[in-house]
Amino acid sequence: MALNFLLRLAAAASLVFTVACGNTETTSDVTPAHAEWPEPDPALLADGPHKDEVLYGEALIRRTYELAGPGASSLSLRYAGNNLACGSCHLDGGRRRYGLSFIGVTDAYPRNMARENAEQSLAQRINGCFERSMNGRPLPEDSREMAAMVAYIEFLSEAAPAGMEGRGAPAVALLDRPADPARGELVYRSNCVTCHGADGQGLRNTDGPGYAYPPLWGPDSFNTGAGMHRIITAANFIRANMPYGVTHDAPQLTDEQAIDVAAFINVQARPERRNLDRDYPNRALKPVDAPFPPYDDDFSQEQHTFGPWPPITAARETRAHR
Ligand code: HEC
Ligand code: HEC
Repeated sequence: MALNFLLRLAAAASLVFTVACGNTETTSDVTPAHAEWPEPDPALLADGPHKDEVLYGEALIRRTYELAGPGASSLSLRYAGNNLACGSCHLDGGRRRYGLSFIGVTDAYPRNMARENAEQSLAQRINGCFERSMNGRPLPEDSREMAAMVAYIEFLSEAAPAGMEGRGAPAVALLDRPADPARGELVYRSNCVTCHGADGQGLRNTDGPGYAYPPLWGPDSFNTGAGMHRIITAANFIRANMPYGVTHDAPQLTDEQAIDVAAFINVQARPERRNLDRDYPNRALKPVDAPFPPYDDDFSQEQHTFGPWPPITAARETRAHR
């Protein structure tokens, strides 16, 4: 506890330093960014209702399709609309560094989310993934399932000093040409088909519901409103984590290949989310790679979707400083 507190203080101090210098690199070895990645294990919790709740939360994250999706025994528990698991993207049940980890996430919520232009609780953020990545419907915030997932994410986050790097995925360098789905198809053929299939539909588990290798497009994939449907977001994840087994510091794909293969995935058919024009009500905060209008600039939908993005960012910065 005391150690955790000290690390939090150190994190706060390094954040102040970072902001003051306008520098995103941390320079000191004692900053949490360089600390060892924690390995919290809920199985080690003392027996009791807290442990049961955390373990249920973990099961919901790892076997969403079975416990809160199309395979759930009770109709009322069929929240997810596809047979993915949260863990299909939040790797190792949300414990893998730079694999969209949940470790450290609790500290970041509630926070202001550009997509809603409103403060969002962790439960609301989880529901964002249920409606988009899982192509389903939101859970009641007071449900047993929501409480369990929040408890699991809180448990994981207790292990992390605030400010520790390893959430999300590191940013790829952007190109000065548009992302190219045709080149991406070649990357896909040589690096991805063995698991995700030539048709992108993955491979079902042989012994039950869900996937050994999840689909990347088609009717059982994430919908057009998901973060993974944005090319930069997908490329960051893919470069750091795919082919499955690579790590962010020893990737197999170049930044360019990751962007092109993300574009190839992005042009395939998938479930449509309606009313996307209502996302990012403050257009100035809309991510440059949001593939759906409206935008508050004169760049085309095509350029927002595929890039090149640096001119869009530059135009925004010029405007912000006028
Ligand atoms: C298809 C991939 C995918 C699936 C499946 C998915 N997510 Fe996500 N999730 C993302 C991405 C990508 C982000 C990063 C935010 C963004 O850019 O939209 C994210 C962000 C989050 C965050 C915020 C993390 C942070 O660092 O602030 C939470 C919490 C979350 N997801 C929970 C879940 C839960 C719970 C499920 C299962 C019900 C789930 N996600 C399923 C892709 C996915
Ligand atoms: C060795 C097998 C393997 C290879 C090769 C592989 N993947 Fe994956 N991929 C997986 C597995 C397994 C998961 C889900 C992880 C889990 O469920 O724990 C996954 C998840 C994903 C996801 C997020 C989940 C979803 O359904 O959208 C994306 C995106 C993805 N892979 C893209 C790629 C791309 C692009 C390539 C090629 C550059 C690739 N993968 C190569 C095994 C593989």
